[in-house]
Amino acid sequence: MTQLLIKGGGRLKGEVTVQGAKNSVLPILAATLLTKDEVELRACPRLRDVDASIRILRGLGCGARWEGDSLIVSTSGLNAWGISDILMREMRSSAIFLGAILARCGEAELSYPGGCELGPRPIDLHLSGLRDLGAEIRESGGVLHCKAPRMEGREVVLGIPSVGATENLMLAACGASGVTSISNAAREPEIVDLQNFLQACGARVSGAGTSTITIEGKAPLHGCAYTVMPDRIVAATYLCACAAAGGEVFLRGARETHLSTVTAVLREAGCTVSPDGAGIACACRERLNAVRPVRTAPYPGFPTDAQAVLMAALLRSRGATVFEENIFENRYRHVDELTRMGAGIRVSGRTAVVTGVEALHGAPVYCTDLRGGAALCVAALAAEGTTQVRETGHIDRGYEDIARDLGALGADIAREA
Ligand code: UD1
Repeated sequence: MTQLLIKGGGRLKGEVTVQGAKNSVLPILAATLLTKDEVELRACPRLRDVDASIRILRGLGCGARWEGDSLIVSTSGLNAWGISDILMREMRSSAIFLGAILARCGEAELSYPGGCELGPRPIDLHLSGLRDLGAEIRESGGVLHCKAPRMEGREVVLGIPSVGATENLMLAACGASGVTSISNAAREPEIVDLQNFLQACGARVSGAGTSTITIEGKAPLHGCAYTVMPDRIVAATYLCACAAAGGEVFLRGARETHLSTVTAVLREAGCTVSPDGAGIACACRERLNAVRPVRTAPYPGFPTDAQAVLMAALLRSRGATVFEENIFENRYRHVDELTRMGAGIRVSGRTAVVTGVEALHGAPVYCTDLRGGAALCVAALAAEGTTQVRETGHIDRGYEDIARDLGALGADIAREA
């Protein structure tokens, strides 16, 4: 079992290039099924979830190979439309393959992705939207049998702006005849990145980044070379690391337009955040101040994925900060671990109140989920002594190499087998 050993107390100083975005590349990998031509994905992050997607593609008969930081995908050999239960369970977002397989094959069979560490993660909106387009979907024994020999475009209204449902429907709609419009669509930057990829392949998709996305289906799609956008949550993590430890860092490639709610909170807490065309510089010289309530919300609101790392950054702030988690039911599992390091946090339902303490101390702690694990690393940088962060496999789902990156930013961090 690998663990990270982090010796806290030192200030950060350094620069890192932000990796490609996990939440962009996963739907884009599903979208590669829409063309039989080769696709080159540049700045593709090497992550456990990307490996899981590659295994799904290979299980369908497709090819995928690395060339440096590019992943070359060829789906011309596609010879199956089912995804095994084991592969479905490896990665919760594998449901996004459903829309793409239906568009390409007219038929799909995959198991239902169950609940996860963040609480229940239903896909009812994905399924009802696909049914709206004409797919017949039967569920038996946790397996979804989907048939869509002829999907027809129409207006689909999402009850909530689900990221995954929006992406699934964009992909399915590429294979539907006529025009599909998705109303109350999610507006996350990763949806725009998916649209940009689809457009680069020749798809007629517009409106991503707004609440209405329009897809004219059945456009002939071709291969392309596409550069994945930088990961805004990884950037948020490293900004919070700087805020927690103090110091000065530069995050090459980070885009402030994607991070404005996070940078606004960090400025309120006392950090100096300076974006330029090449990235974002952050300097934190003094003890942070508590901030106004932080409420997670769909984009452009404060991202739920940055809630844990911001909480970690504020553990030694002056005063108390209220967090309200509005997206997932079970997203405070990192709190118990942070408490072991001396944090003052009270949770009641969807609210957590962080009362800043004078000092944190190193402790053995366990990652409970991807972003919760990253939060433990952020807190460890601000703690006196050494923290052992265990169960780091969660972190590897979304960070290429958090030890490499935090090390480049001046942290005393080592990975131990
Ligand atoms: C995506 C991100 C994840 C992020 C989340 C919210 C990826 C791979 N993952 O997850 O990192 O935390 O967006 O920004 O991009 N819901 C339903 N029914 C559905 C679908 C969703 O009730 O059919 C609910 C969910 O339970 C949740 C909310 O909608 O409460 C938002 O979920 P959604 O936007 O779909 O998140 P994901 O796409 O799973």
